[in-house]
Amino acid sequence: MNTGRFVTFEGIDGAGKSSHIDAVAERWRARGLEVVRTREPGGTPLAESLREMVLHRPMDALTEALLIFAARRDHLQQVIEPALARGAVVLCDRFTDATFAYQGAGRGFDLGVLETLEQWVQRHGPQLRQPDLTLWFDLAPEVAAQRLAAARTPDRFERLDAAFFTRVREGYAQRAAAAPGRFVRIDADAPREAVAQQIDAELAARGW
Ligand code: TYD
Repeated sequence: MNTGRFVTFEGIDGAGKSSHIDAVAERWRARGLEVVRTREPGGTPLAESLREMVLHRPMDALTEALLIFAARRDHLQQVIEPALARGAVVLCDRFTDATFAYQGAGRGFDLGVLETLEQWVQRHGPQLRQPDLTLWFDLAPEVAAQRLAAARTPDRFERLDAAFFTRVREGYAQRAAAAPGRFVRIDADAPREAVAQQIDAELAARGW
């Protein structure tokens, strides 16, 4: 692999991404590749501070969108772009698809404004920086809610109701339909081992 590769992991809260991100990181580290495992909002000291605010302090929808994109800008400049330029693999737990799904579809925030912010923040030379691959962990909100209830104290998003997560899921489906070459839908309701096998097969199919 001569140039870096940018892979993002998406899905509603409770879809079970984390352990699979670790497994993908291990797969590529074992081959001697540099792997940068990171997350959004977050990934730099500044962006992690913004994450704390976004996840725990009340704010209006535009403020929320601006803070998320501000965090993304810092993350891209400080971490993601330099890593890709060195030829590393960047594995990012959520990226801009989450903004379209949560702020756009979930909260009903203006998609046109999100598109404008995406253009500003992700401009990379003449192009727009987008993931090379997005693994979308899809499962029914009711199943995800059951998993979350057993797991942890909810943040501002995890406290939202089933109707919100139904809209978020629909938002992901729309992003996937708009970028079918980049998105892969993972059946996150399948047993853990089956999910891992599906991911392995998708990566192998790309020669990764
Ligand atoms: P999450 O990956 O679920 O972190 P954790 O596993 O620690 O809970 O992300 C935190 C929350 O941030 C999640 O509920 C989704 C939300 N979020 C947005 O609303 N918009 C965004 O653009 C991003 C990246 C995340």
